[in-house]
Amino acid sequence: MNDHEGAHGFTSVDAQPRPAEWVRVLDRLSAEPFYAAYKQRLDELLRAEPGGLFLEVGAGTGDAAVALRSSSGARVVAIDSSLTMITQARDRGLSHAAVADGHRLPFAADRFDGAWADRVLQHAAEPARMLNELLRVVRPGGRVALADPDYDTQVLDIDDQELARQVLRFRAEVGLRNGSLAHRHAGLLAARGVRDITVEARTLVVRDPSAVDNVMGLRTWAHTAAARGYLHPLDADRFVTRFDDAVRTDRFTYAVTFFLTAGTLAGSD
Ligand SMILES: C[S@@+](CC[C@H](N)C(=O)[O-])C[C@H]1O[C@@H](n2cnc3c(N)ncnc32)[C@H](O)[C@@H]1O
Repeated sequence: MNDHEGAHGFTSVDAQPRPAEWVRVLDRLSAEPFYAAYKQRLDELLRAEPGGLFLEVGAGTGDAAVALRSSSGARVVAIDSSLTMITQARDRGLSHAAVADGHRLPFAADRFDGAWADRVLQHAAEPARMLNELLRVVRPGGRVALADPDYDTQVLDIDDQELARQVLRFRAEVGLRNGSLAHRHAGLLAARGVRDITVEARTLVVRDPSAVDNVMGLRTWAHTAAARGYLHPLDADRFVTRFDDAVRTDRFTYAVTFFLTAGTLAGSD
């Protein structure tokens, strides 16, 4: 496994050959300072207070839910479509964790003071429907927060920018179901009557290709694209050569921007 969120791995963790490896992927990412920092900001955007009730949709290992509970004193419920993830979340101390589909939340309307989804809408079969569900279960005046990378914002310095763009485009359009939705989260919330919407952008800049290769699998994307008929195999070989050249000459730079979008549900002052 060398691709951090691509190839639809996170749409069906339990169906993967080695589901437990996806737990390790999430743990590796959470340990990265960039991820830790934006996750902390997402917590702040939720404005959780002691005694409040919050929901994380697509909670993965449950680490973020546990962190929000400790930092705010709020009660936190987590759901994820993967039993592997929910088992982890329970093992990590999250008693209110359940297997459920974010498209069909098993909760009454207005149940929560806030809800969030971090790197989940990008995998959703029907992101609009998942968002409707997330908003349905939050009370009027409650908070919602979304985070996702937007792969339309990717850049990569190798010595063939056209080839780099081709591979990055594959990543944006095919590697994930909704790889370039994040810059549209605010519009989706606004269309659903959410108020006081804020959008914050954080750019992940990677200069250490071993981090990319071990965590994000960038070096392999071209061959994945070739295997699926989006790129000629010789171009895929060329991509790897250019990639390695960039590493050797210390020019290697990859960046992608994450959007953190938050707002308040209408209907209460
Ligand atoms: C990239 S991981 C992010 C996990 C966690 N939010 C984090 O930030 O570490 C995406 C998670 O969404 C879950 N997921 C994907 N589709 C889902 C769905 N339809 N309903 C609920 N969870 C889903 C996956 O099982 C996975 O745990």
